[in-house]
Amino acid sequence: MKVLVAESSGVCFGVRRALDLLEESVEQAALENEKVVMLGPLIHNPRVVDKYSQKGVHVVDAKSVPEKGVIVVRSHGVIKQTEDTLNKNQELKIVDTTCPYVKRIHQLVQKKSSMGIAIVVMGDEDHSEVKGITSRIEGPFLVIAPELEEDALETLRDFLITNGRVFVVAQTTSRSANYKKLVKEIKKVFPDRKKVDVSQTICSATLKRQDSARELASRVDAMVVVGGRNSSNTSKLFQLLKADKRDAFWVESPKDFSKDEIRELKTLPTVGITAGASTPDDQIMEMKEFLEKL
Ligand code: F3S
Repeated sequence: MKVLVAESSGVCFGVRRALDLLEESVEQAALENEKVVMLGPLIHNPRVVDKYSQKGVHVVDAKSVPEKGVIVVRSHGVIKQTEDTLNKNQELKIVDTTCPYVKRIHQLVQKKSSMGIAIVVMGDEDHSEVKGITSRIEGPFLVIAPELEEDALETLRDFLITNGRVFVVAQTTSRSANYKKLVKEIKKVFPDRKKVDVSQTICSATLKRQDSARELASRVDAMVVVGGRNSSNTSKLFQLLKADKRDAFWVESPKDFSKDEIRELKTLPTVGITAGASTPDDQIMEMKEFLEKL
């Protein structure tokens, strides 16, 4: 079997930075005999989080933050209230790995909402990134799911009419086609451009991985998407390929393939691999070697 890896796939700048900061913190803490914990899983990749857990770096939540030691804040960021509480504790060393692109959204919504402008956030309201964003909004806001279902659109129209002017952002891992549709819907209500301020907040790493996965999918018999089941951008890659009617598998490791899937893969002459922005290179290489041996 010929196995090709999408030109743009795997860890992005933000995740690489988070992993580097965590590694540095663990080394430094060992020298100073301090304990390190992660506030929330550092990245959405259970295999990486398990690896650190085995080294004694456990995941804690906002309610179980230790009194002292080193706390590494995850790359998706935390809600403002948690950040404020951490900052009050002088005994804690805080290593904030929040991706600078996520921080930029925090700053934008805080600034615009403090000017009295209502905010529309496209994203998954249960995702930690979206919770972090909305916690910094100082006035009215609406989170709208990317599917833009009719009920949600009605709520959006009411929100726009009530507030008269909006600032619009999207979760960094959103699909650009969905964001364009949302902006189109908003402009139907507000044809006057002065009432709508749209910020391009979808991360280019996400867009590049999406384009690259699509391009490779057009040249192979099936695609394997490697990445955490809890990774939003990995999920989007898979959904995109499915929406394009491509044969695609989504696994965290080769162990996740069922016997039927292995049987199917063995019949294919060419398979492509793509991976979410939280999938380290070694996991991609492991998959490549596994498929090549089939
Ligand atoms: Fe940051 Fe983009 Fe990665 S927002 S964490 S560089 S996917």
